[in-house]
Amino acid sequence: MMSDTLEASAPVQPLLAPFGAEPLIVTDLYGAIAGQGCSLVDLTWEQQRLHEARRWSVVEMLSGIDIDAVSDSDRNLVWNAGRAELTTKPGADRLERQADAECRRWLGKDDRVAAIMQACGTWSRYWNEEEAHHETAFNRLSTLLGLEAISDETFIEFRQVFPDDDMLRTLTLLAISEIVAAVNYANCSRVIADPGLKALFKQVGADEIQHMNYFIAFAKALVDSGAYPAKEAFSVAHLFMREGGELYGSRREQVETRDTHVNWWDHLEHRSGLFSPEAIEKKQMLVYHALEKITGIKVSSPEAVEDTWMDLVGC
Ligand SMILES: [Fe+2]
Ligand SMILES: [Fe+2]
Repeated sequence: MMSDTLEASAPVQPLLAPFGAEPLIVTDLYGAIAGQGCSLVDLTWEQQRLHEARRWSVVEMLSGIDIDAVSDSDRNLVWNAGRAELTTKPGADRLERQADAECRRWLGKDDRVAAIMQACGTWSRYWNEEEAHHETAFNRLSTLLGLEAISDETFIEFRQVFPDDDMLRTLTLLAISEIVAAVNYANCSRVIADPGLKALFKQVGADEIQHMNYFIAFAKALVDSGAYPAKEAFSVAHLFMREGGELYGSRREQVETRDTHVNWWDHLEHRSGLFSPEAIEKKQMLVYHALEKITGIKVSSPEAVEDTWMDLVGC
């Protein structure tokens, strides 16, 4: 029989969700770690369950597409998406490395922040694998459609790793990048005629929304911890929202040229008469939503984003 002392000191096993329940994204990550005492094993289990529940097969998805029925306009969408998705692997590789380095930097100073960083770095393996589905689906399809091939030189150029930045800025930027991708794919899926190709764009768009929600959760946890000031989230949002900012993609008069890495969403090729995804207002709405979730501050215009950022800098 177990003694009272042993029973009292028996480890608590906090379950994030009852066994058999739908897997979920832990949206209050700081609360789960600091309040409920959730361990990294618990959090990783939830990440694994959601990843498994969302798996789909690129081979099966491509077999459902009528290659001969894909229009010129839709071919253009596939080609652009393939190039954009090539740049996600260096983003995920960078996040994995940076999150682990940040984890070790915080260890002993604030172990809760260290745990948030490790949960983020651990999730990056699922993110990377899911983006691999997107990249290979669109680029294989480009090959099957006989579109302009991606040379090894371009492939390697697009794999250049992103430079490091403050972690809250990085996570906010990634959340916004997923918003841009999700809205673009949703718009594409609406105009595509072939049901198989429509389903592929819809599926990829749904993955991007799920990625956005993860980035929001990690960013919110950093703000909730008190270790990262909300102004950093607003500073990145301002870069995207300002007139002629990154949200306007390749339609801007001046698109940044970077020596370090490629962001194809900045360079989408628009050909006259062919559909191109934009929906700036929808993207703006989702950015406001993300900022509110991350910081608790509600905004509803690009000017309010800038004003709030300036106010927070002045604090
Ligand atoms: Fe993607
Ligand atoms: Fe994504």
